[in-house]
Parts: sequence; structure tokens; C-alpha cells
Amino acid sequence: MAMGDLRGKVAVITGAGSGFGREFARVAAGAGMAVVLVDVQADALAETAAALEAGGTTVMQRRLDVADGHALQTLAHDAWARFGAVHLLFNNAGVGTTGMVWEASVQDWEWVLGVNLWGAIHGVRAFVPRMLEAAAGDPGYRGHVVNTASVAGLVDPPLTGPYNVAKHAVVSLSETLYQDLSLVGDRVGCSVLCPSWVGTGIARADRNRDPRAVRTRTRAAAVGQALVDKVVSSAKTTAADVARLTFEAIAERRFWILPHPQALDAVRARHEALLAHAPPPDPYAALPQLRRQILDALHAP
Ligand SMILES: NC(=O)c1ccc[n+]([C@@H]2O[C@H](COP(=O)([O-])OP(=O)(O)OC[C@H]3O[C@@H](n4cnc5c(N)ncnc54)[C@H](O)[C@@H]3O)[C@@H](O)[C@H]2O)c1
Repeated sequence: MAMGDLRGKVAVITGAGSGFGREFARVAAGAGMAVVLVDVQADALAETAAALEAGGTTVMQRRLDVADGHALQTLAHDAWARFGAVHLLFNNAGVGTTGMVWEASVQDWEWVLGVNLWGAIHGVRAFVPRMLEAAAGDPGYRGHVVNTASVAGLVDPPLTGPYNVAKHAVVSLSETLYQDLSLVGDRVGCSVLCPSWVGTGIARADRNRDPRAVRTRTRAAAVGQALVDKVVSSAKTTAADVARLTFEAIAERRFWILPHPQALDAVRARHEALLAHAPPPDPYAALPQLRRQILDALHAP
């Protein structure tokens, strides 16, 4: 769907209170779309909504947890009731934890898989059947789903186990969605977004966490958190850059959205190793000092 075709259409964006989600909402609003904004953090959600409403955009906002499938079904029902259809769906809300994969608490696993993976599954289940129905009933209808995964869905950096597992699964969900959609027509498409590090609120994902949750509090978790803080705060690509590239991909109906070409060397190395029956190479091979820092921090007396 070219930008010009988006005027008067409707976009649903999860995680719209911050980072990529907020920028998707800005671009959608700028293209003349109505936006349905979803976030679990009420103040951030209200801030995005107010800024867009002030610019004249029609906004529906809903505070909900994307891990709650009923809440997403109700949202889809209500969005259709209000607007008659939804054209773009961004399954984008995400959170992360750090630590050795064997140390992560069950609540860490459940939280990270609940938001990143189940959030996208619930979004697909709630919206795609309605999008296909809209396409069947209206020859002019076009729909598109964008799932936010990560480079961590294509390679497996150390110290972010639950996040890697969730993002690989989101890539798999998206590739399967692509294959299944291709069996039923060409008017609903999908893409998967796989960025490397970008300066957003992701390193402070804990801000929206149940304070009673059992968190992984080990040295490796602290080392991983320090690493994430560093790479996110020093990232050069902005969330606005990622949103622009994402809308370009939607216009071209391109499946892979890969904003960091340099990160693809590690993806290539992983696949070549796999084909050669070799063990997984270091995803940080291009940044040997990073691995050195991790090892020094882990093994310091
Ligand atoms: N920033 C990066 O470096 C990076 C890289 C690759 C992928 N990603 C992915 O991009 C997506 C967006 O993250 P971001 O970087 O913009 O971070 P962010 O923290 O700025 O934004 C994420 C938003 O999701 C919301 N959210 C968290 N839990 C939620 C829940 N249970 N239900 C609904 N909303 C919830 C947060 O309140 C926040 O507004 C995530 O899926 C993340 O994993 C980020």
C-alpha cells in the first residue's frame, strides 16, 4: 500500500506509547490514517494519543496487555465496530530480560514470551480473519501485518535467552503467516521487522513489569543489562528511521525489513555454519571488544 493509498485507512499499533510504536503512529497519522493505539503504560499511551489528536488525527486508544488474548479480540471487535475495517496491524509491543539462559526465572520466560510472542500470536488471531473477510467482501480492500521481531530472531547473542527465543518464534510466525496468506489470495500481506539496536525505551522494559515478579538477579543478568544499556544508548539509527523504512517496505509489499545491513554478516555466518554442520559462530564476531568486555565482567573477581 503506497503512502498515498493510506489516507482514510486505519492502523492498529501495539506498544504505541514509546519507541518504534510511537513513530509508526506518527507516520500513519502523517499519511492521513486513523490510528488505534495500544499500550500497557497509560501515561505514555495518553501522551502519544494527545500529540496526534492535537494534529487532527482520529485516535482510538486502549490500555491493555498484549499477552491477554481476550483483550485483543475485544479490541479487534471494537475497532471494526468503530471504523468498519483495519488495514495495517503492527504487532510491535516488546520487552526483554538478561542473564544466562539456564538462570532465567519462570516469570522472566513467561513475561518475555507473553508480550513478544503471544502478543503477536493474539494480534494475528484477532485481526487476520477479519482482514481476510474484509478482502473477500470488498475488491478494493488491502491489508498488511507487520510483526516486530529483531536481529535476535535471526541469530542468538549470549545473555538474552528468552528474548532470542521469543524473537525467533516471531520470525517463524511471520514466515508461516506469509506462506499461509499466499494460499488464500494476495490482498492481505505481511512483513517482519528485524532491527539491530536502536535508541528507544527497550533497555528499561522493566518499568512495565509486575513488581512482584521473580526476576533473574545474577551477575550475568547485570552484565547483560549493562551491555543492553550501552548498545541501546549509543545506537545511531533512530526509531523514526526504522518507521520510515517500515512504511517503505509496506508500500513495496516486502517481507523482510532489515534496517541494519551490517548485522546481516552475522546472519550469513550462522546460516553458512549450519549448512557446513559447524557450531554457531559468535554473533558479536564483528565486535570482538564486546565479547572481551562481557568475559572480563563475568569473570572479574
Ligand atoms: N530498540 C531496539 O534496539 C530494538 C531492536 C530490535 C527489536 N526491537 C523490538 O521493537 C519493539 C518495540 O520496542 P522499542 O524498542 O520501541 O521499545 P520501547 O520500550 O520504547 O517501546 C515498547 C512499548 O511497548 C509497550 N509494552 C510493553 N509491554 C507491553 C504489554 N504487555 N502490552 C502492551 N504494550 C506493552 C511499552 O509500554 C512501550 O511503550 C519490541 O518488540 C522490541 O523487542 C527493539
